[in-house]
Amino acid sequence: MEKKFKRTTVTSALPYANGPVHIGHLAGVYVPADIYVRYLRLKKEEVLFIGGSDEHGVPITIRAKKEGITPQDVVDRYHTLIKQSFADFGISFDIYSRTTSKTHHEVASDFFRKLYDKGEFIERTSEQYYDEEAHQFLADRYITGECPHCHSEGAYGDQCEKCGTSLSPTDLIHPKSAISGSQPVRKETKHWYLPLDQHESWLRQWILEDHKEWRPNVYGQCKSWLDMGLQPRAVSRDLDWGIPVPVEGAEGKVLYVWFDAPIGYISNTKELLPDSWETWWKDPESRLIHFIGKDNIVFHCIVFPAMLKAEGSYILPDNVPSNEFLNLEGDKISTSRNWAVWLHEYLEEFPGKQDVLRYVLTANAPETKDNDFTWRDFQARNNNELVAVYGNFVNRALVLTHKYFEGKVPAAGPLTDYDRETLHEFADVKTEVEKLLDVFKFRDAQKEAMNLARIGNKYLADTEPWKLAKTDMERVGTILNISLQLVANLAIAFEPFLPFSSQKLRGMLGMTAFDWAQLGQTDLLPTGHQLNKAELLFEKIEDATIEAQIQKLQDTKKANDEAAYKAHPIRENIDFEDFLKLDIRVGTVLECQKVPKADKLLQFKIEDGLETRTIVSGIALYYAPEELVGKQVCFIANLPPRKLRGIVSEGMILSAENADGTLAVITPEKLVKPGSQVK
Ligand code: MF3
Ligand code: ZN
Repeated sequence: MEKKFKRTTVTSALPYANGPVHIGHLAGVYVPADIYVRYLRLKKEEVLFIGGSDEHGVPITIRAKKEGITPQDVVDRYHTLIKQSFADFGISFDIYSRTTSKTHHEVASDFFRKLYDKGEFIERTSEQYYDEEAHQFLADRYITGECPHCHSEGAYGDQCEKCGTSLSPTDLIHPKSAISGSQPVRKETKHWYLPLDQHESWLRQWILEDHKEWRPNVYGQCKSWLDMGLQPRAVSRDLDWGIPVPVEGAEGKVLYVWFDAPIGYISNTKELLPDSWETWWKDPESRLIHFIGKDNIVFHCIVFPAMLKAEGSYILPDNVPSNEFLNLEGDKISTSRNWAVWLHEYLEEFPGKQDVLRYVLTANAPETKDNDFTWRDFQARNNNELVAVYGNFVNRALVLTHKYFEGKVPAAGPLTDYDRETLHEFADVKTEVEKLLDVFKFRDAQKEAMNLARIGNKYLADTEPWKLAKTDMERVGTILNISLQLVANLAIAFEPFLPFSSQKLRGMLGMTAFDWAQLGQTDLLPTGHQLNKAELLFEKIEDATIEAQIQKLQDTKKANDEAAYKAHPIRENIDFEDFLKLDIRVGTVLECQKVPKADKLLQFKIEDGLETRTIVSGIALYYAPEELVGKQVCFIANLPPRKLRGIVSEGMILSAENADGTLAVITPEKLVKPGSQVK
């Protein structure tokens, strides 16, 4: 049941204005969205491409506090930087605005008010920590204390970064306010909740039945959320940075950042088109597509649609193409560890090479699984594909035309079978690329476009017109005519992917017409048409350049390792007596399972020599439960029992922590009797 749409509203996730953007952002969201939008524009379809910065949320306030500036200063700085990076990389937004704009404050506030008036929220009162000195409620991240699990200091109200356990603020031992340092008290506070449970049944139908075509990673994540059962979600927070909750008695409360941010798509459309924005959001003949990263799936597939549905006058997204993550040289990209290729730095180091990065990121796009960016691969793709295939073909065709025909497109004489075959091959490319782009398979689509260049390159290599120049100029003219038509096709086919190169190529060809519908045509350049000077489209990247980049990352790694060591220096000497107090034992894992609703916790049954103990450990991110059954582990046997997620944990399993925070459980080198002491 293919629906016919009149226009497409394309959004790309609003990045937090909390730091610069890096290759992961580009690969995951902005390049694919831009390819898609450019493709639709080339097809002369009506399309809007909406972007902007996400400028609310607790991390921004924490960053401001740390730097002694205001949250507005933080977002001003990064909004400007991010916007510039996107412009530099040719991400062709129709608007790139921000959630601190006046329009957004009005639109988001009205949206909340409408849902409130319609009775779409429920109100709940709960106890939260309150700082009596600072006179404010404390967001989870603003409360620190001792981790109930590993007992390290400085765990946050939502997570202990030491052992990875996810926490709630009331789990912390000796909680402290990060604002005043005082001990917070519990105080009642009222919040508004979107009752997602009440939306569950239509969401199930709409996603699981009506949108089976969504990417498997997106569909799968939605299904697992739905299968777990949806809970009401708070849409307000006690915070002084954000959009005030527009309801009486809500002083000091703002909209939760994940409530206001997606409304930013709407506000930014309204800012761009104050009179006609509704057409793009409410007309059933408009189609809405959200480009996002995988950590945003639940918000765009479940929460935001529920908000739109509750409001009542909006269309729902038709597709939510979401990518997995891009790693860098084998490690997870991390802003705090500076493990990233920042876009503004790339541009300083590779000026004019935006398309090379766009090409490599699409060729390696994490469409179905996490993928890795390496500088060697970057170099290889540039040198072996962009330079050796695409650039080389274009250059030879143009240079030969200048050499033999004064840069005028020669007439084609009689065709050989091979000519016809070649023409035939590229006639298909339009359908092929379209088929793939229509279903968001950008990597394969780009590969298909590159195949066109391969065909051309091979055609010239096989026909060798330079050898015929003395004897058969008519044949040379035919070969070059066919080659030039192919080159013109490449300029169109690559426009969505490599817009800078396409523009340059069009300039060299003096091409005026430029339309997706012309792709596959063999008369794009009329006989006698004058070409402009040939320039290189791409240039080789030398080993030294790549080695410098690799060195830069190695320096980062070294600095991180040193910082990690400094953060955990060897502690001061203790008395031997104190050591003896610690009772470390070996136990055999009898059973191991995940703790429901705690993605980091595993629950163990351990044979300790006398009886079986239950121990809860925050290592679920690093081990599948079945991996550990039957193994021996070391644990501290004489810690007082502690309750974690309702389970009484009788000890602590020991593991070694890598610099990147990953954990490896300590096991004895040979089997020993359960209960053996470690000394
Ligand atoms: N700022 C969020 C992130 O970077 C994305 C927000 S998308 C929007 O993960 F829908 F909320 F705008
Ligand atoms: Zn901990």
